[in-house]
This record gives sequence, structure tokens and C-alpha cells, in this order.
Amino acid sequence: MLHAIELKPDIYWVGGVDWNERNFHGYTTDRGSTYNAYLIVDEHPTLIDTAKPGFADELVERLREIIDPAKIEYIVSNHVERDHSGSLPELCELAPNAKIVTSFPNGVRGLTAHYGERDYMPVKSGDTLSLGKHTLVFAHTPMVHWPDNMVSYCPEEKILFSNDAFGQHFASSKRFDDEVGLPEVMAQAQKYYANIVMPYSKNVGKALDALSGLEIDMIAPAHGVIWRSHVNDILETYQRWANFESQEYAVVIYDSMWHTTEKMAQSIVEAFVERGVPARLFDLKVNHISDIMTEVLDAKYIAVGSPTLNSGMMPTVAAFLCYLKGLLPKEGAKERIGIPFGSYGWAQMGPKEVAAVLEGCGLQLPCGTLTRQWTEDEEGLAELQAAVAACVE
Ligand code: FEO
Repeated sequence: MLHAIELKPDIYWVGGVDWNERNFHGYTTDRGSTYNAYLIVDEHPTLIDTAKPGFADELVERLREIIDPAKIEYIVSNHVERDHSGSLPELCELAPNAKIVTSFPNGVRGLTAHYGERDYMPVKSGDTLSLGKHTLVFAHTPMVHWPDNMVSYCPEEKILFSNDAFGQHFASSKRFDDEVGLPEVMAQAQKYYANIVMPYSKNVGKALDALSGLEIDMIAPAHGVIWRSHVNDILETYQRWANFESQEYAVVIYDSMWHTTEKMAQSIVEAFVERGVPARLFDLKVNHISDIMTEVLDAKYIAVGSPTLNSGMMPTVAAFLCYLKGLLPKEGAKERIGIPFGSYGWAQMGPKEVAAVLEGCGLQLPCGTLTRQWTEDEEGLAELQAAVAACVE
């Protein structure tokens, strides 16, 4: 078993490493995940968060390397979701005198719904808790990722215990960003943001404003590795994502039956590239929707194509659009351009359904709906490319 790791004097990583997690609510977690918990050894020993159900034994074993769990006086629950609170019942049995520190009112409500009446200690934004030589300051961060979320800050060591924010689904024997390498950690953080946090970008912006006055030396999230060498990089990147800033970048997503919609998709990619806009092609038969969303986060242009099948769009495309609609922040979508396209035989319902969903997402559709009947031909594809080129500013 990986041992507990000391982050700062008397502050330890303890928690669970889930090497085999491959699907988190439909998001493919190719590198597994971790459920980080942190122990502060002080006059009033404190555990910050627990772990997903099934990881209590691992967490407790790491705790026992440092302290008798019975001595824990506070368990801070920064977030009710069960990947962080799921081992609370076991921890409460081992630490029968511990108070459970949680946000008021949503943390108390959520924990009570999951675990019944317990010794809750509700806290508001700005409340402080003295542990002895360490202090914890709490700040509510609602909807990053549930209504109950809060973060805990230790001013003496300048550590932010950020829970879901700044996390990555990433299992590793390493605990710190600089031990893994920035490109890998950023790629995992981007996939996490795009698939978990993106719909709440407005709330992320408010949370970043609330944290802006803090001196932060280390960010200890509840998933993945701990930020100690690239704190400013992840804070700046989160600000960009929270603003839902896009880049001149196109994603072209499609499914196809007899390759006409596929030829259209390839032609759309060519049209972007010829206009100097990098583009990527995603066939829904071979790409997972959560990997596509990672790319959507940065893309100004989102082209989605389906032929007509059974009087509608293909189910693969419908599943992607359902996911896209749930994740795109409404306030940012209007700055981005949607390009619905697709082929048909005798009825245009497939591409029209795509257009309706993209419009419902709030995207601009300056090209209208681009369609081809039966087969592609050079003249038709040239018209398609001209329409796409006209969308590029
Ligand atoms: Fe990692 Fe919203 O739970």
C-alpha cells in the first residue's frame, strides 16, 4: 500500500487510490482516480474529507500510520457527494467524538439525507476553526460541484483544500504535480473540468473571486495530484475556463452510414484548416463523448453531423448532443458557433434535429443547416466548404 505522505509539517495526505476506476458517471477515467483525504495533526486532530465507499479500509490504514483515529476531533466534509463522504460512517465509528464540519444549510441537509442525524457542526463562509497551531477558514463554493460545496484554507501553511475544484481523475503513485509533469496533469484537469465542472463555470468564477485574496502555496484537491509547483498555472487556467474563453479551433463530430456525412465532415475540417483554423475530426463510432467534450472546452466552432436514420438523427449523435447540452454553460454558448450538417435520402430530419439541439444549446448557427442528398460530389462539397469558410471571421 502507498503510505501516507506529509505535505507540510503535521499535514498528511491520506485517502484512497482507485487504480481501476474507468467510468465516472459516463466519463471515461482511463487513468483511474483518487479520493484524497487530508489529516492535520494538532491539538484538535482533524480529517478533511473521507473517501468513496469501499476505500475506508485503505484510508484508515494510512491514518493509523500517523494517529489513532479515535483521537480525531473534527471531520471536515467539504462536499456531500459520496466519492468524498462515502466512508463517513466507518470514520464516525472509529472517531466517535468527532464533530462533522459541513456547510450550512446545504451540507447539513445533504449529509443528514445520506447518513441521518449526527454531530454536525455547521459553518458559514468566513467562519474559522482553530485546531491549535493551525486554523481552518471555510469558504462556500456552491455548485462547484453541488450546492453544498465548500473549500477549507489553512492560512499558517497557505494550503487550500479545494475538494472537486482543481481536481483530476488520475491515479498515480506520485502525489505532486511536479512529480508527474505539467502536460499530463493539465490534460487530466481539462478533461475533469470539461466533464464535471463546465456547466457551473459562472460559479467557478465567483469561487475564484472569493479566493483571490488568499496567499496560496499549495492546492490540495480531493482528486488527483496536489498542486505545489504550478499553482499559478492552474489558477490562471481555471480563470480562462470559468470565463468560457474559446480559441480559434474547430471540432467536427459525426456519425455516418454510407460515408456521405463522413465526407462532409472531412470537407468541413479541410475548410477550417484552409482558413488557418486548426480542426479535429471525431467519428462517434470510435471516440468517447467525454474525450470529445475535453476538446469542446476550447473550441470556438462545434460542427455536428448526422444522416437521417428512422426519421431522425443517429442515436450516437443524439447521445453526444444530450451530453453536450447538459455540459455547455448557457451564458458562454452564445459566443460560439454551431454548424449542423448531414446527409439524407428523402427527408432531412437527421440534420434538422441536430440543428434544433445546437440552437437549444444557445450556439449561433450562422451557416444554417448544411445538407447533402444521397451522395457527395465535388461541386456540393465545394459549396459546403464555402459556407463553412464564411463562418470563420
Ligand atoms: Fe468528487 Fe462532486 O464529487
